[in-house]
Amino acid sequence: MFITIVKALSPDKSSQDLAESQDLIREIRDIANRQGVFILAHNYQPPEIYQIADLIGDSLELARSAQETDADTILFCGVDFMADTAKILNPDAKVLIPDPQAKCTMAHMAGEQAALQLKNQYPDAKVVSYVNTTTATKAVSDICCTSANAIEIVESVDSDQVIFLPDRNLAAYVSRFTGKEIIPAPGYCYVHDEITPQSVTAMQMLHPDAEIIAHPECRPTIIDMADAVCSTSGMTRYCRDTSASSFIIGTESGMLHRLRSEVPGKKFFSVAGVCEPMKRVTLEKIKKCLQTGSGEVLLESKLMDAARRPLQQMIEVSKSRQSRSCRTRDEIRKGL
Ligand code: 13P
Ligand code: SF4
Repeated sequence: MFITIVKALSPDKSSQDLAESQDLIREIRDIANRQGVFILAHNYQPPEIYQIADLIGDSLELARSAQETDADTILFCGVDFMADTAKILNPDAKVLIPDPQAKCTMAHMAGEQAALQLKNQYPDAKVVSYVNTTTATKAVSDICCTSANAIEIVESVDSDQVIFLPDRNLAAYVSRFTGKEIIPAPGYCYVHDEITPQSVTAMQMLHPDAEIIAHPECRPTIIDMADAVCSTSGMTRYCRDTSASSFIIGTESGMLHRLRSEVPGKKFFSVAGVCEPMKRVTLEKIKKCLQTGSGEVLLESKLMDAARRPLQQMIEVSKSRQSRSCRTRDEIRKGL
């Protein structure tokens, strides 16, 4: 299966790179088709990687499709915790990551020791861990969540106290919608944490009609300014469906490629930087990975089994509770 999602890209330096990479893209698709490799790519990947992907999505969409595919091999264009999640949910598949050093910095903050320490302090609390965590952290958690379902997951746990890790910003966002006591860990994503009210205001002065769309990993001050707060794929749906025609985007700047290709005719402006780990994946590394089988995700089976439980729990809850990957300013204000 090869779904071409990219329809149009802005005429910037990246499209020139894209033209130069066409041979490599064709070669990679040929190998992947011959070997039956299923290629997943996160929304933050660069446009040339979109071209070779079978599916582009947010963390939840990618985790679900990694679990559902019947391909023997999954090649994951993203960061470590995403490839690990694919392996945990589909342990019989071979999962390859083109650069094993593509490590989400937040996923390595507030790990399993922090979870156990907080659990010691709050023995009645349930542990909700964001998928942006290591396998060891997931293994000591009650349930996982992503940016698309964090509120619904927290509401689903049978405890009035919830230890939420590692993202303090996502924890603060979730606490706006629940009566439960949220006990946050001190982690954060450097890309989102660095977005400032000043940079958003400066962009707003240049584009006064633009709506502000933020990712829930942003600081509370940015959430307060936003017209809508969404997961990365939620942003695509929101921007396509709303009547506004220009948007200031508060998430990793690579998201603009997805938005421009999926929502042609509207304008997008970024106030965020680049996620360096995400950009470690290149066409050259992908080709090598396919040719040599390098970059295989290998996890200890007991640890995988322990980490599968909270992930599976998340997937089950997501089936029964409709997750809303986007909330508007009004809904956020009302805590709905
Ligand atoms: P999404 O699940 O919204 O794609 O977010 C993943 C991520 O790492 C954001 O920084
Ligand atoms: Fe991790 Fe932040 Fe990169 Fe997302 S943007 S993968 S949270 S470092």
